[in-house]
Amino acid sequence: MESLKERILRDGRCFPGGILKVDSFINHQMDPILMKSIAVEFVRRFASEDINKVITIEASGIAPAIMVGYLLELPVVFAKKKKPSTMQNMLVTKVYSFTKDNTYDVCVSRDFLCKGDRVLFIDDFLANGNAAKGMIDLAAQAGAEIAGMGFIIEKAFQHGGDMLRSLGMRVESLAIIESLDNCEIKIR
Ligand code: G4P
Repeated sequence: MESLKERILRDGRCFPGGILKVDSFINHQMDPILMKSIAVEFVRRFASEDINKVITIEASGIAPAIMVGYLLELPVVFAKKKKPSTMQNMLVTKVYSFTKDNTYDVCVSRDFLCKGDRVLFIDDFLANGNAAKGMIDLAAQAGAEIAGMGFIIEKAFQHGGDMLRSLGMRVESLAIIESLDNCEIKIR
């Protein structure tokens, strides 16, 4: 997606350790016009898939996911990183965060991720793919199917995309970062 790539090159910032900061337009301050274009592109790419729900993980996945859900007129579910005390009947999985070097629980109610669902998973970043792997586990526990996975930015050098594609998952990333070496952003 050209406009996204241009924006990353213009406003993205590199940090040591292969971190790309896009917090002026994607995951802190958000540009809703760009977010709408991102959602339009996801809808175009997944047009042939039979989907009944959009799913993401809080927090940064929610903005693109709700835009996609709005365009598709489908419900949007976000998996939670803290177990709400009022939530019963839920599915839980553990996700390891490479960036933060910790493991956290991700949960979703069985009422909102169910047998027979065909969900589209949307997130801002695909790095090592651990969050996506957690979502695959939650879907398997629910008896739901993942019709596809859409990421705004994939960091190819962390290989989460390779792992998901080798599992047979349909993965669409709107900007693929080849490298952030020497704090220079190289986009495929
Ligand atoms: P993974 O899920 O692909 O394995 O990613 P990883 O554990 O490495 O990343 C953990 C968190 O860091 C995720 O957000 C992910 O989106 C984010 N992240 C990974 N690489 C980058 C990067 O280069 N730049 C930025 N800005 N974020 C990155 P999270 O902890 O779930 O946070 P949030 O969704 O609550 O914001």
